Amino acid sequence: MEIETEQVNRVNGIRIHTPEDFAGMRAAGRVAAECLDMLVDYVKPGVTTGYLDDLIREFVLDSGAASATIGYRGYRHASCISHNHVVCHGIPGDRVMKEGDIANVDVTVVVDGWHGDTSRMYAFGEVKRRATRLMDITYDAMMAGIAQVKPGARIGDIGAAITELAHKNRISVVEDFCGHGLGQVFHDEPNVVHSARAGTGPEIVPGMFFTIEPMLNLGKKDTYILNDGWTAVTRDKSLTAQFEHSIGVTEDGYEIFTTSPKGYDKPHTVTV
Ligand code: MF3
Ligand code: CO
Ligand code: CO
Repeated sequence: MEIETEQVNRVNGIRIHTPEDFAGMRAAGRVAAECLDMLVDYVKPGVTTGYLDDLIREFVLDSGAASATIGYRGYRHASCISHNHVVCHGIPGDRVMKEGDIANVDVTVVVDGWHGDTSRMYAFGEVKRRATRLMDITYDAMMAGIAQVKPGARIGDIGAAITELAHKNRISVVEDFCGHGLGQVFHDEPNVVHSARAGTGPEIVPGMFFTIEPMLNLGKKDTYILNDGWTAVTRDKSLTAQFEHSIGVTEDGYEIFTTSPKGYDKPHTVTV
């Protein structure tokens, strides 16, 4: 006879969280979002990605949080900074950001054991119209995906909404990376694919926590990873963008844990 000692409630292998767990995610998500807010004043041409990462590391530690990425599978930085044709997992370093560049900055923090994972696009100086357009559509695609989240819907509905919006604008959706469950672990079930058919995938249930983090390319969807083992780039070197929120499923929809306290969710851009 087996005695039920497992306290963790799961549906189809996906952890279901309590109201106290939501409070934990709110605190973690807030620090991650505040960190991205802090960066806005430092994003300008001439800055190195390594300097931005130093600011992030300091901010996270000063907030009483820990970086989830430092030490994760050998990664040594407090953020991923992915510029222009870099899809995700760009390694901060000596690269000097130039006028007209765009970059995604992705931060994951741990507060009291809970993970807050979020990323946004930033524009360095004045950027071209096509860069602004790609960033706007990518943000809208993430939000269209989030809008699908409610009990009874399917995980595939999220990717279906993202893909529909992207394709309508003749933009491709990267299939090589997904959103993911998170909570007391960084990467958990479910896989949140950003390109999917509506009505497919696991059912969405109150108490699930996951990220939605679509990557959209002006060119083809294909990517490859550089020899450093991390940096993912578009195969055709086309411009790419990404946004990421951590969310929780509520009784009637969703709660975004990583909303910008300063209203900086969508980047301010000056278009040439
Ligand atoms: N924050 C990324 C995500 O959205 C993961 C980065 S892992 C790292 O899942 F090691 F590259 F930092
Ligand atoms: Co993530
Ligand atoms: Co992330």
